[in-house]
Amino acid sequence: MELNNVRLINNPVICQSLTVMRNKKTDSQGFRFAARKISRVLLYEASKNLPLVDKDIETPITKCTVKDIADDITIIISPILRAGLIFTDEAIDILPNARIRHVGMYRDEETLKPVWYYNKVPAITSNPEKYYVYITDPMLATGNSMLEAVRLYVNKNIPIKNIKSLNIIAAPEGIEFLHKEFPELEIITAAIDERLNEKGYIVPGLGDAGDRIFNTVVV
Ligand code: URA
Repeated sequence: MELNNVRLINNPVICQSLTVMRNKKTDSQGFRFAARKISRVLLYEASKNLPLVDKDIETPITKCTVKDIADDITIIISPILRAGLIFTDEAIDILPNARIRHVGMYRDEETLKPVWYYNKVPAITSNPEKYYVYITDPMLATGNSMLEAVRLYVNKNIPIKNIKSLNIIAAPEGIEFLHKEFPELEIITAAIDERLNEKGYIVPGLGDAGDRIFNTVVV
């Protein structure tokens, strides 16, 4: 499989948290805690594309010139409802100026296609090249919802190099599907699993991420 523009982040801390998430015996609180640990690392990775500027400050010792994130940019965190919300607390900790723009799609269980139910992302009137967008969804499965979300921002003239897909687990099918339309889209993920099953779930995966985060697993 072509792995251009896929950044796989799999250090031991991530592996450990992913093991917790995959284990069906992990309860909802443990699942969320592990997911947040991984999402924080993925967000740090994504932030590597933010422009830096020089800033003059004074430490308690001396004046100096240091680097800081440019303040003339707009950072958008776009969680795909509902599982993508697990990234938001971490995101606003790390990037306090980020705007959170929720996008809501549910998966039609027959067609596996996304159906929009929430999109209030406004038009972008000036300098779209100064927007940096991180779209979050713990599971990149078929890629249908992520593709819709990426299109939403590309249609607002935000350069594809400024848009990233942040996923805890990605399926090869989802990666291929996204890259067919947007080969330059960078996907940042903690794992690439084997495949999708006939219901569109990632194998081995971790089940339904939304249900496990929000404790709605039906037993
Ligand atoms: N969404 C999930 O939550 N899990 C999957 O395996 C696929 C899509």
